[in-house]
Amino acid sequence: TLSFTHRFQPGSATGAAPLLLLHGTGGDENDLLPLGATLSPGAALLSPRGQVLEHGMPRFFRRLAEGVFDEDDVRRRALELGEFIGEARRHYGIAAPVAVGYSNGANIAAALLLLQPQALAGAVLFRAMVPLNQPPAVKLARTPVLILSGLTDPIVPAANAAKLCNQLIDAGADVTHTTLPTGHQLSQPDIALARDWIAGLP
Ligand code: MLT
Repeated sequence: TLSFTHRFQPGSATGAAPLLLLHGTGGDENDLLPLGATLSPGAALLSPRGQVLEHGMPRFFRRLAEGVFDEDDVRRRALELGEFIGEARRHYGIAAPVAVGYSNGANIAAALLLLQPQALAGAVLFRAMVPLNQPPAVKLARTPVLILSGLTDPIVPAANAAKLCNQLIDAGADVTHTTLPTGHQLSQPDIALARDWIAGLP
């Protein structure tokens, strides 16, 4: 058995990158399957459940307070997620996935990009923030990353999203950052932008 509780839906369209779906705090492996099917119809979907519990709510790493992260735990959990991706790729015979993460799921995807640059083929980060203040020097081979932020997001200050953007650009990612007139919740334009961006991946 694989190391994370997860759901897997095999792909039907040839050529579409598998999506790695990473839920927000309090979500689980079922939540983002409909979103994944909307964003990339026919793509294989791999959806793990975060292994940390905060008052019973699954997450992908520990935090000390909202927006204040236990960075040692971020590192450890990101590497565990990287191992799971490797296991799942062998088990299901899929290519390196494009992560689609929301909130806490976007933050672990950002950490994975900054710690294991070969784990992901790309990433859509909804409402992401800086997961590691001092990431190691890694080389992302122009990995495509779409960051979608909310202008009135009370959890992610604009400067924090901009810092994440710069960290990823410094590491070599090919970053597109768009800020939408919304809060922390996903909006319809998030879905449309992410779908078009995924459709345009090489
Ligand atoms: C986090 O803890 O990753 C962020 O505060 C986002 C959240 O999950 O609320």
